[in-house]
Amino acid sequence: MDPRPIGVFDSGLGGLTALLELRRLMPEENIVYFGDTGRLPYGEKTLAQLRVMAGQDLRLIAQQGVKAILVACGTLSSNTPEQLDAFPIPCTGVLRPSIRAMAEAPGDGALGILATPATIRSGAFARALREACPGREIVPVPCPRLVPLIETGHTGAEDPLLLEAAEEYTAPLRNASAVLLGCTHYGIVERALRRFLPEDAALVSAAACGAKAVAELLDREGLRGGSGEETYLVSGDPETFAASASLLLGRSIAGRVRGVPVMRIEL
Ligand code: DGL
Repeated sequence: MDPRPIGVFDSGLGGLTALLELRRLMPEENIVYFGDTGRLPYGEKTLAQLRVMAGQDLRLIAQQGVKAILVACGTLSSNTPEQLDAFPIPCTGVLRPSIRAMAEAPGDGALGILATPATIRSGAFARALREACPGREIVPVPCPRLVPLIETGHTGAEDPLLLEAAEEYTAPLRNASAVLLGCTHYGIVERALRRFLPEDAALVSAAACGAKAVAELLDREGLRGGSGEETYLVSGDPETFAASASLLLGRSIAGRVRGVPVMRIEL
């Protein structure tokens, strides 16, 4: 029995899709969530910036006394995998577990990857998929407008700006048999994306894959245990985050959100 919390972080609301899945799998675990809302979107940052930010985020979450870390962010998972691997606390990103799930998805059509510009630029998901599924068509699609839309509340299934973006980004995926939601934010707008994808295409959530990998990691290392507590840290406005996050989680987290300073990126 190890009651120390699991540390989860992302640029903002996206990682909450992983937190929801963690809760489903392990309701008893304590969780500390960090949303770096003062510095989003991560998907528009350079590789050099992302390397600095990954180190800062990992240290911040480690200072909370966590027993394991889920980097609930496709952008950091794909751009800084070596930093995640080298961190002294057991740590998983969403890249490897997502590739395993994509390789197991039914069908032999194209494999689509929807992700942030920085994730697509890294080429990490496409390379790993090509290796896991030789001969399959791989279609990576950068979606620059989705995270800004989601973080500003354009999440309704009928939101015109969201639907326009969803239609544009899914257009190259009309022959896909599996599509990876390679950014943890995208689960929040899954319904809008699904509307334009082939009906029988499997949607693979990087967030859910990451959560499952953490559950497996805790079991492997004998680290399970806790009392279901949650603490939230945010580098942007705590009240704005609490309001949006409560909506998304379907329960109020007011009173559990604490502001932290925005960390400076010195290159
Ligand atoms: N949710 C993160 C990801 O999975 C970051 C998105 C962003 O801030 O651009 O890539």
